[in-house]
Amino acid sequence: MSVKPWGGAFDEQTDPRVEKFTESISFDHRLAAVDIRGSQAHARMLAKVGLLTADECRQIVETLDQIGGEIARGEMVWKTELEDIHMHIESALIQRIGDVGRKLHTARSRNDQVSTDLKLYVRDSLTTLDGLLEELQKAFVERCEADADVVLPGFTHLQRAQPVMASHYWLAYCEKFQRDRERIADCLKRVNVLPLGAAALAGTSLPIDRDESAKLLGFTGAAATDTGSIAVAANSLDVSSDRDYLAESIFDLSLIAVHLSGWAEEWILWCTTEFGFLKLPDAYTTGSSIMPQKRNPDVLELIRGKSARVIADVTQILTLLKGLPLAYNRDLQEDKLAFFDALDTVQACLELAPNIVRRARLQVETINARLEEGFLDATTLMEYLIGRGVPMRTGHEVVGKLVRLCESKKCKLADLPLAELQQACDKIEAGVSDYIGVQNVVARLSSHGSGGRAAVQTQVAAWRERLKG
Ligand code: ARG
Repeated sequence: MSVKPWGGAFDEQTDPRVEKFTESISFDHRLAAVDIRGSQAHARMLAKVGLLTADECRQIVETLDQIGGEIARGEMVWKTELEDIHMHIESALIQRIGDVGRKLHTARSRNDQVSTDLKLYVRDSLTTLDGLLEELQKAFVERCEADADVVLPGFTHLQRAQPVMASHYWLAYCEKFQRDRERIADCLKRVNVLPLGAAALAGTSLPIDRDESAKLLGFTGAAATDTGSIAVAANSLDVSSDRDYLAESIFDLSLIAVHLSGWAEEWILWCTTEFGFLKLPDAYTTGSSIMPQKRNPDVLELIRGKSARVIADVTQILTLLKGLPLAYNRDLQEDKLAFFDALDTVQACLELAPNIVRRARLQVETINARLEEGFLDATTLMEYLIGRGVPMRTGHEVVGKLVRLCESKKCKLADLPLAELQQACDKIEAGVSDYIGVQNVVARLSSHGSGGRAAVQTQVAAWRERLKG
């Protein structure tokens, strides 16, 4: 008999080069644990509806546990001729318990099996990822305590714009990663819909109970698995072709990678002598083989660089899906490569990022030495004028002229004598000195979500509460 579980209608052996070309065991062995989980639930469901006896079910479940243990210990030898993880596990089962093992695949196809495995795997992975994102958020919030009094220039176009509390920067990243977490939670609602039971493409004439499978595997249609309800995919053709949940997951990963890349880029700039804002921990920098003084931000550069792969993975999965007729096509086997690559890449970045965030040090002296440069207070001075009834555009022009005056005198707005300020606009009074200078500005920026001292303190408290525990 052929080694292949599908060999019945074939009278020629598969060309070994075809086996090598079509195998996926080299990468889908990662699905072993979820494949076993899925098969055990399937066996229990089959027993419930009478397609297996209780004893057959017990034998299958126990033997699958043994096989799972062997795989986890690295004892299973992967064979190209067995194609994929599903056939490896099924043939190991049959080898051990014979005809009972030959019943496991009743009312199931690898098409619904692989999607079930993938969904279980994606669910676990996204949950892990959510935890890593939370760690990173916590690292940023911790920084808020250490840097509570530090003011940084805020930039637009990478030009000095207005001052903000350093914590405002840290919480900006918390917000981005929070949206990433929300996207993951939303994606999980669709991951959490049971494919199993769609069989090859058309369902089955056998009396299966898909609700039972959904219950056993925790497919609840919800972001978390504890709602008690169940969700079963309603169209078998859709099931065997649906990889939306993978495309979404990879996109979610790519946006995390893009957020990490933007942060890495910012800190790479901040570590330069030109900025001098930040010092990275030695453990997270590398030296040069020729220039003894170098301390290079290679980890941050690679976090930035690796985002390219994850972005490419989005393109890969979408291109893979775009021309597929219903239902399953073997093209879909390549879906895992894109997902695993995106997952591994983002996970590796997220495992390093929190320590970099925690251990980097702001160079407060260098920052403060130049903090009054760049007219970070110009906008607040304009707002002072608005508060005195000057139309916004007029105030803008007045301050613009004062900035020019300062540039020609090589001084700051705070250095201009009151008389000179009043010459520019007669609405200016002595109290203006409370509106210029960086510290005054951060004391006055007060709108909800602004970078001023009090507004940021409110946000820090809210984040601490949110991430508690
Ligand atoms: N290894 C295959 C995959 O990843 C499993 C499904 C095979 N199905 C089939 N009809 N050949 O997609």
